Amino acid sequence: MRVLVTAASRHGATLEVADAIGRALSEAGVQADLKMPDEVAGVEGYEAVVLGSAVYYGQWLPTALDFARRHRAALSARPVWLFSVGPIGAPEPRPVEPPAIAAQLVANLKARGHHTFAGALDRGRLGLTEKAIAIVMRAPEGDYRDWPAIRRWSEEIARVVKARVHEPLPA
Ligand SMILES: Cc1cc2nc3c(=O)[nH]c(=O)nc-3n(C[C@H](O)[C@H](O)[C@H](O)COP(=O)(O)O)c2cc1C
Repeated sequence: MRVLVTAASRHGATLEVADAIGRALSEAGVQADLKMPDEVAGVEGYEAVVLGSAVYYGQWLPTALDFARRHRAALSARPVWLFSVGPIGAPEPRPVEPPAIAAQLVANLKARGHHTFAGALDRGRLGLTEKAIAIVMRAPEGDYRDWPAIRRWSEEIARVVKARVHEPLPA
């Protein structure tokens, strides 16, 4: 029972979310491999895939979108869960709406679902242009990631994957 967890991150916050998902899956008894989307040659050999991306300007990052395009057929043949990391601020991180690409990806990959997790913004990690944009947008600095919610979501995935244990591995 192996699950691939892969996510595109620009400044590390999403990578840490992917890592937490992988650890929660492992602790729930599902072997999870964490890889960068552009390092994955194929998803054959995995019972399921968790694919995520940080959101910038309403979009997923190119490496996550490329991954979805390259492996579309194999992804459609196995359970896939998608997640976006982006909204920032408190008490309600914004934007509230999921990125528009999410619904399209769910349809293209026949994904089991998509979840948006709040992200983190550390202006010190940004390049000059991004820093200027973050200031103009008045983007609130801070770490808004909801680790218990990330764990609960991962445990639900583990539950579904474990329930499928007797089904043959998809091609
Ligand atoms: C220039 C810039 C643009 C952003 N645009 C969005 C956006 O459109 N939607 C969103 O939800 N979050 C947006 N964010 C917030 C990031 O997605 C958030 O900081 C995320 O945690 C970054 O993940 P990373 O560290 O893995 O790159 C933006 C952040 C920056 C700096």
